Order: sequence, then structure tokens, then C-alpha cells
Amino acid sequence: MTAQTPAALYPDHLDTLAARATAALERGGFDHLVVPSGTLHYQVFDDRDYPYAVNPQFKAWVPLVRNPGSWLVFTPGAKPRLVYLQPRDYWHVVPEAPSGYWVDHFDVKVVRNPDDALQHLPRNATRCAILGEPQSALGRYGAFAPNNPQPVLDYLDYHRAYKTPYELAMMREATRRAVRGHRAAERAFRAGASEFGIHLAYCQAVGQDANELPYGNIVALNGHGAVLHYTELDRVPPKPVRSFLLDAGASHGGYAADITRTHAADRGGEFQAFIDAVERAELALCDEVRAGVDYRRIHLDAHQRLAGILQEFGIIRCGAEEAVATGLSSSFFPHGIGHGLGLQVHDVAGFAASDAGGTIDKPEGHPYLRLTRELAPGMVVTIEPGLYFADMLLEELQAGDNARRVDWDRVEAFRPYGGVRIEDNVVCTDDGPVNLTREEFAATA
Ligand code: GLY
Ligand code: MN
Ligand code: MN
Repeated sequence: MTAQTPAALYPDHLDTLAARATAALERGGFDHLVVPSGTLHYQVFDDRDYPYAVNPQFKAWVPLVRNPGSWLVFTPGAKPRLVYLQPRDYWHVVPEAPSGYWVDHFDVKVVRNPDDALQHLPRNATRCAILGEPQSALGRYGAFAPNNPQPVLDYLDYHRAYKTPYELAMMREATRRAVRGHRAAERAFRAGASEFGIHLAYCQAVGQDANELPYGNIVALNGHGAVLHYTELDRVPPKPVRSFLLDAGASHGGYAADITRTHAADRGGEFQAFIDAVERAELALCDEVRAGVDYRRIHLDAHQRLAGILQEFGIIRCGAEEAVATGLSSSFFPHGIGHGLGLQVHDVAGFAASDAGGTIDKPEGHPYLRLTRELAPGMVVTIEPGLYFADMLLEELQAGDNARRVDWDRVEAFRPYGGVRIEDNVVCTDDGPVNLTREEFAATA
């Protein structure tokens, strides 16, 4: 891993994007790639806008995440063009003039009105692959309406899984922020804060608010840890406080970190031992992130390891093999082992068989796995095993044949703690895995 600055890494990143875009345009039979940054969306019967979410195809080129109404134009062989909307507006803060290490690499055209972008787009819209949302359409009769050609998207999305050194540097910075937040959040938890209070401590330490974070913080005390995407943020802490599951990330330059840690209030108790066992499994699974490994294999190995933990703690009465074969392990580990990570927290093209399309199926009985591709250098994936005591899944379990394989007294003992998830972000390389999350926790210990 390199410690070069973004400015030093960006030119090669842009060259990679240009080469990919050139190949993608060839696939689709187009001359230009045109990417709107997106528009503001409004709430129904209201003049309030939703938080703006930039088009990921746009922020792949420039680290701009707060600039609706701008456009990127790439024509093979030419300097890429950025049409940058800087409206005249006294109601809102207007975006600054573009600045930073990336600006000189673009032919920048500043416009004051969204419609003025049109004069800087290629003449013939039919020769353009326009990637974006329908609302971005510009021109008479929506001539510049996104057409999202599948061959172009397939090519770009497939290759986006392989991060450039610039992108890895962005993800390291996102990780740095998120780890700072996780430390602050654990302190707040140990000081007795509510979920809401912990969330605020997290945002303060990261320096980002809910709309800047790559996904809604999951701040779960006690039984709430069993809800996989719990985002309620209770204002009052429970009594007693037993456990804390935090799944929270951070963004940098448009790239995401996605980190989960689980803590026990009693560091000497059985739930802490349960967390430690999941952590050992998680580290072993992170070590499987190597070139040539089928990610589905890691998912299935996770089931074996987690079922072993359920047996070790007396929660199930059968061996790991049987627990996996009968589907019992899925009652406690009901999600996938992870996903690709990058411009989006659940990055695209997780099932892509090739850059020309096609799908790699999920293993049968594992509908929630988000990534089925073979790992290759440059890919960044999450590894996030978990064990949960979720009311709905336990009810279903109790009603089925697997009920006899469960020690229900042990389930009741663990249920008030909710669950455990531990999640790291790992880079596949030519050598061993590089665990961005662990490296940052270790560097700041
Ligand atoms: N934070 C959502 C996930 O871990 O996939
Ligand atoms: Mn994740
Ligand atoms: Mn997560």
C-alpha cells in the first residue's frame, strides 16, 4: 500500500477511468460518455427537498458529492469536460468555484443555470451514452435524457470493483474517520449514553452528519442488536445496559467505509466471550480474502464457523455440519458474509459474470448474499459475520423441525443481548489480504 497523496495518485486513476470509458463506449457503439451529477428531489405536495444523493457514475470521476445540476463529458482522446453548475442564488450557499488536485485535469465550464449545461454537451445526443436518472433530462423534449445503455453500464460497473490506488487512498481516509467515530461511540456507550447520544458522539467525532455518512448509522443497545438494520435511535438508554452493536461508516471523496463492532457492558461476562469467538471467526474469514477465491466459499465457511460457535456455547445441540445442512445456522446468521464496497456501501455488480453481463448465482438457500464473484487484486469487500437472536426468526425456528436442535434456555439467556456483528473492510491484493479497518484501529490504538 502506498502513502502517496491523492494529488499524486489521481492522474493514474483518471487514466484508468478513461481507458474503461473508452472500452465501454465501444461496447455500446457510442462516441461520448455523458454523466449528469443528478438533481434535487422534492417531497410530495411540498417544497422541501430530500437529501441530495450524487450519481455514483459522476463521483467516480470527480470527488464532488454536493453539486446537483453538473455534468461530466468524456470523449475518447479528448480532455474530459466538467460542466459545473454554480447558480446565482441568495437563498442557499452557492458551491465554491471548483478547486483541488483534480481540477486541472478537466476542461471546466461553469454555468449559472441548469439549462445552460446543454451548450457544453455534445451536439448529437443520439451518439451519447448518458448515465443517470430520468429527472436529469435536459433540452427540448428531453433530448439529453439518460439512456443508460446496458453494455456500457455492464462494462463500467464490472470494472469498478477493481479499485485504483487513488480509490484505496480515499477509502483509507474514510476508514480513518469511521474508526475515530467508533472510538468516540464506545466511550459514549461506556458513559451510559442513549442510542441517540451515541449517534451524536459518533457524528461529532467523524465530522459528518447523517446525510454525509454512507448509510444510516445502526446504533443498537441490548435487544436492538438483533434487528439487522436498526435505525431508530432511542432517546433514553435501557436499564440495565448490556450490549452495544454499532454499524457505522464514513465517507471521503465519495468513497465509503462500513464498519461494525459489538461491545459488552460486562467485559468479563459470557457475552464478551461470545463476541470474542465471533471475532476469531471474523479474522479467519478476512484471511480468506485472496485472489482466485470464490466469495461464495467465504460465505459458506462463515456458516460453518458460526455454527461451531453456536455449538460451543450450547445454543444448538448438533454439530456445525448438521446445523448448516438443515438451514439451522441461517436462523442465527440470516444475512450474507458481506459485499463489495467503494463508491456505494453496497457496491454494484456483485453478481456480474463478466464485463459483458451475465449473473453468477447465489448458493441455494442463501438469498441475501450480495457478492458471488471470484476475488481479484484491487477488490475491496466487507467481511461481516454475525449471530443474532431475532424474535421473528426464533418464532419460525420454534415452529419448525429444527426446534429440537436448539437449547431454548440458552437462547433465552442470550436474547437480551440482541446479537453480535463484526465487520471489516478488506482489500484483495496479489499477496495477502490488507485489512483497512484493522490497520487503522491498530495505528490509533
Ligand atoms: N451497513 C450495512 C452493511 O453492513 O451492509
Ligand atoms: Mn456491510
Ligand atoms: Mn455495515
